Amino acid sequence: MKQLQIFDTTLRDGEQVPGCQLNTIEKIEVARALEELGVDVIEAGFPVSSPGDFEAVDQIARTVKDVTVCGLTRAVKKDIEVAAEALKHARRPRIHTGIGTSPYHIRLKLKSTPEEILQKAVEAVSYARNFVDDVEFFAEDAGRTDNEFLAYVIEAVIAAGATVVNIPDTTGYCLPEEYGQKIKYLVDHVPNIDRAIISTHCHNDLGMATANTLSGVLNGARQVEVTINGIGERAGNTALEEVVMAVKTRKDIPVETRVRTQRILQTSRLVSSLMNMPVQPNKAVVGRNAFAHSSGIHQDGVLKNRENYEIMNPGDVGVDESAIVLTARSGRAALKHHLERLGYHLKTEHLDEVYARFLEEADQKKQVTDEDLLLLMGAANGNNTNLNLKLLQVVAGMSTVPIAIVHLMINGEEKAATAQGNGPFDAVFKAVAKLIDVPFELDEFLIQSITRGSDDIGKVHVRIRGNDQRRWLGFGADTDIVTASVKALVDALNKMIVIHEATNAAR
Ligand code: KIV
Ligand code: ZN
Repeated sequence: MKQLQIFDTTLRDGEQVPGCQLNTIEKIEVARALEELGVDVIEAGFPVSSPGDFEAVDQIARTVKDVTVCGLTRAVKKDIEVAAEALKHARRPRIHTGIGTSPYHIRLKLKSTPEEILQKAVEAVSYARNFVDDVEFFAEDAGRTDNEFLAYVIEAVIAAGATVVNIPDTTGYCLPEEYGQKIKYLVDHVPNIDRAIISTHCHNDLGMATANTLSGVLNGARQVEVTINGIGERAGNTALEEVVMAVKTRKDIPVETRVRTQRILQTSRLVSSLMNMPVQPNKAVVGRNAFAHSSGIHQDGVLKNRENYEIMNPGDVGVDESAIVLTARSGRAALKHHLERLGYHLKTEHLDEVYARFLEEADQKKQVTDEDLLLLMGAANGNNTNLNLKLLQVVAGMSTVPIAIVHLMINGEEKAATAQGNGPFDAVFKAVAKLIDVPFELDEFLIQSITRGSDDIGKVHVRIRGNDQRRWLGFGADTDIVTASVKALVDALNKMIVIHEATNAAR
């Protein structure tokens, strides 16, 4: 199997999207996650564009070890010098330089001629080779560039020392067949093409980024430029998770990647939360519904054998399990499955009777939850407010051991606990844990702000894990971020306790 290089440009093409900007610490966190994920190249930024971008590329170059770090430049000497400086601590530095090659870019953007463009491209590559051994050349708007001229430019930049040649469909204009033929044309007509790797870089303006990228791979490209969740200019770039999982799932694509696919979901969530870019529920591979089944026929099929309706194993991308969502379209098989999870094993006649009541309930609601099912079975009282936050006081700061006092209303009775912790969040979580009989562990903790002002509302999502390894999500919002996190924790605990008590009652 041939190796397909994964070039991640989340921190460059993705980060240049309005609202997605990250600070250097956040960029380093994303870079570390990408290194863990197993990408081959991280495009860390465009160093000449701002001091912030320079700093981020420099810091990432010093931090990551097991991956090539790349900086973008125009075909301009100053850009190349600045990129080389930002990359000087990288173990494997790469300069990514290039220029527009389509008639639009040559005439309307650069006000130049094909001859001048060719000369600038060659000069930029040769100049970059004075600083690093690994130089990638991009022919911007290659998607709308005449193949003959493109081949001519590519041959010249390889002769000048380019190790990778990037063929961007900058405007997302190409059709898959057409883009694949462009790559094949280069393979067949550039005499020195065996001295460089061909790279794809497809934008998603017509929703064809992944299809075009795969068509490029099938025709000889051995590097793909992608972003997590497909973020990028306008309609975005090619989604890393889609290409990686297509290659893993379709054995007829003769390449493999080094990506540790089980880390895909957590990396997707990290990027989504840091960049304030929610992932659409039906997004391929990482959307909330990507492994959720709601129609009766599908649910029955999945319960009989997952492969009836799933081409990927959810565990392979880091999803715990396929979700069988209970709605008015669910059948008896799905209801039985959920009741058994909750400890109810019903005979057929009883199941029929519960199913009839379930359908009445489902007609009223979009989705029937575990708590609704327990109510249906008469085990829960429908009052999902066993716990309420009554009072919270936290002392924290420099040279102080953080301490939290928490008062909770537990089934109508006020109870209080005090705890110290490594930080204010740790202290409040420990205080809450002292008040709860049911053991639990904090599994995930995510803080988000809606805008970036200091008076903003903080949103906190937590996920806790009970002794039986089941997980519960909680949400809290407040202008005080510590209060928001206790509210989120209490929300999750309320759900866990209702189910815990009702399940015990059912047994
Ligand atoms: O879309 C594009 O052409 C780019 C280049 C700068 C590589 O992002
Ligand atoms: Zn791009």
